[in-house]
Amino acid sequence: MPNSQSQPAVTRGADIRKTFLDFYAQRGHTILPSASLVPEDPTVLLTIAGMLQFKPIFLGQRKAEVDRATTSQKCIRTNDIENVGRTARHHTFFEMLGNFSFGDYFKEQAIAWAWELSTEVFQLPKERLVVSVFREDDEAFAIWRDQIGIPPHRILRMDEEDNFWTSGPTGPCGPCSEIYYDFHPELGDEDIDLEDDTRFIEFYNLVFMQYNRDANEKLTPLENQNIDTGLGLERMAQILQKKPNNYETDLIFPIIQTAADIPGLLYEQCDEPTKTSLKVIGDHVRAVVHMIADGITASNVGRGYILRRLIRRVVRHGRLIGIEGAFINLVAAKAIALAETVYANVRERETVIMAELAREEARFLETLERGEKLLVDILEQQAEQISGAEAFVLYDTYGFPLELTQEIAEENGLTVDVDGFEVEMEKQRQRSKEAHETIDLTAQDSLNQLTEKLRSTSFLGYTDSTSASRVEGILVSGQSETTAGPGTEVQILMDQTPFYAESGGQIGDRGYLLGETFVVRVEDVQKESDFFLHVGRVERGDVTVGDSVTAQIDRAHRRRTMANHTATHLLQAALKALVDDSISQAGSLVSFDRLRFDFNCSRSLTSDEIQQVEEQVNTWISEAHQAKVEVMPIDEAKDRGAIAMFGEKYGAEVRVIDFPGVSMELCGGTHVNNTAEIGVFKIISETGVAAGIRRIEAVAGPAILDYLNVRDAVVRELSERFKVKPEEVPERVSSLQGDLRNAQKDLEGLKSELAVLKSDQLVSEAEAVGNVKVLVAAMEAVAPDALKTAAERLLQKLGEGAVVLGSVPEAGKVSLVAAFSPQVIDKKLQAGKFIGAIAKLCGGGGGGRPNLAQAGGRDAAKLPEALQTAKQQLMDTLGDS
Ligand code: SER
Repeated sequence: MPNSQSQPAVTRGADIRKTFLDFYAQRGHTILPSASLVPEDPTVLLTIAGMLQFKPIFLGQRKAEVDRATTSQKCIRTNDIENVGRTARHHTFFEMLGNFSFGDYFKEQAIAWAWELSTEVFQLPKERLVVSVFREDDEAFAIWRDQIGIPPHRILRMDEEDNFWTSGPTGPCGPCSEIYYDFHPELGDEDIDLEDDTRFIEFYNLVFMQYNRDANEKLTPLENQNIDTGLGLERMAQILQKKPNNYETDLIFPIIQTAADIPGLLYEQCDEPTKTSLKVIGDHVRAVVHMIADGITASNVGRGYILRRLIRRVVRHGRLIGIEGAFINLVAAKAIALAETVYANVRERETVIMAELAREEARFLETLERGEKLLVDILEQQAEQISGAEAFVLYDTYGFPLELTQEIAEENGLTVDVDGFEVEMEKQRQRSKEAHETIDLTAQDSLNQLTEKLRSTSFLGYTDSTSASRVEGILVSGQSETTAGPGTEVQILMDQTPFYAESGGQIGDRGYLLGETFVVRVEDVQKESDFFLHVGRVERGDVTVGDSVTAQIDRAHRRRTMANHTATHLLQAALKALVDDSISQAGSLVSFDRLRFDFNCSRSLTSDEIQQVEEQVNTWISEAHQAKVEVMPIDEAKDRGAIAMFGEKYGAEVRVIDFPGVSMELCGGTHVNNTAEIGVFKIISETGVAAGIRRIEAVAGPAILDYLNVRDAVVRELSERFKVKPEEVPERVSSLQGDLRNAQKDLEGLKSELAVLKSDQLVSEAEAVGNVKVLVAAMEAVAPDALKTAAERLLQKLGEGAVVLGSVPEAGKVSLVAAFSPQVIDKKLQAGKFIGAIAKLCGGGGGGRPNLAQAGGRDAAKLPEALQTAKQQLMDTLGDS
């Protein structure tokens, strides 16, 4: 039956995201980029909600630079990990769309906009929406009833557990109000149970953020009344795409299909456990790709442990659905392709992501095989429970996270002695403490232990390029080791270092750690809270905890990075001066070979503006401005007009990079002493990355030579190949393109002629029905026009009859034609109507005259079946009379 309900205008996940942001941008909200999954907030391991980056603003610790903001925030929650794939809507990774008011609008306006967006923009039928408010929030109740017009029995008062939102045990919080969608309104208004997730889905949570909760659960009113909302992108996609669950929406399903293709499964035909495994893969792969993109590496501590656990679950579920060997890169590639237009760093960090995933997968596959054998033995021997000691051996020796053992045990009707496991874990901690004076990094919470035991790394790199340091810790694949030999990939902790750790957009330094008998090459430096992890490889000798080293950065690499970093500041200053003073940084990457600067701007820059900005930066470079670097209280820096990045967390004291009269910014990065050191600056591209956010890519300093050399080599090669001068290359290419187009046209023509001639052979396949002939056939890759000519020609040869031909001229296209003679038409068969109906079977349509008509479709797989139906119908109709 045709669906009488009109289809909402917005259904695709990408459109839902954009529509949300645009809606609030049109209502005075600044679109801000998603914060990293690694939060500044030390109370949580991962970003769990859109509000997290604004927590200091809600608490009055930082001044908001805008009154209203809107974001699409990447989030990860792992508290319900066991439910992923089993229910319709649990995720680890998800995107939360939010609108925020920092002491600006409050309840009334937030409710009115949420309602307008849901019912008018997303066109959700009002009668399908139910709302909840906090039990004591009479004000919100009255707004929904009196101003929005919701019947009182569809406004449910809920208690604190459901409708009082806080990001953690302490922090900003407040009553909230949620909007639910009803999948089964036919069940009536009596006994509405919002907990029934087969009927209702909560998609929009409006938090009226007005208290701070302290450790004693005491609520103190915040200085401002704020709004924090979250609309689940995947949930809205489920509703608008009319899918039975979140996983089958266009945000995740392509990943599931990629995974299903590997062992040759058809998702629709899979049993429930297989579907669950596919959903787990679809969900977790998004999570791990974004986690690695945001700088997390797999380890046995903190968020590194969460990453490792998710990767291992993906691998294990892959095996459950029959995948043998490594596969995670294949599914990750799909997740990257789906995410890259919104979160560009997944593509930029693709190599790192793929390498990290492949490494973890290979390691786990190895141990899994050995561990699985052991687990099977254990399972066979157990009546009810796997002992703590056994679970610990699986964890310690075979890398089975406790939760994985629990999950497998549960599948086999067993439990695990978790307390016993903890006891074993504690014993292990004691053992390793006694064994060596180093920190036990194998424990999940040892990141905290580490911070307690070691002093944070001192950074000397603003002034020094070498330092005499002591090796304090060595990590090999996330495990603490006392020593590491040649060829080992290591992460090294030291008491002090000249190496800059990646932060504020600037990449980590490279260089060497030189010991008396060993050399470690450092390829990257990452920060874990205040500790610098020097990531690299032992080139020679053995490095051991306690060793003295000379830490030496690659100066040339650093100089290039500094040139790009200072150039980024100059670029921001020039954009503000020449394009729009309200431009501010929305993200940046400073590398040794290029720089990237994202900024808020509602339109693209003109080529004149780009040229002026480039000229201005180069003028400042040649004017040789001297840098003044000072540390000062944040308020003083702001009073002096220093630019701060919105959403960045700053301490009470800040570092200010000042090129007097040109640019003054809060920044922890490394910079040139004088702008003249940059040499020259060139903008490579200006593009849009998200609604309201533009991106400039540029190069500065010595990196320009690399850029020019690459370009120059390309042009030289082209000019040699085409045997023209470099400046004549574009013209030559245009003329070749023209030749190619003509040749292609000729080729198409010839192919069609050939197809028409070949069609003559089909005459013998015609079947006689009464005194007419019926010919239904598929032809190989024939263009629509040629197919029509062939049909006409065949009908002419048959005399009285019906000819139906189908072909797939190119991937994703079906072409159909019907030619009927007068006698056939007399039998009430019309070519136009007939072929239109057949085309529908191939996901298309079309029509034409009673004697000759063409149609098209998209689903080539359905063509044989559609032609079979056509033949049957013709035989039936013509045979009957
Ligand atoms: N902070 C609230 C939530 O996560 C609304 O964004 O649900």
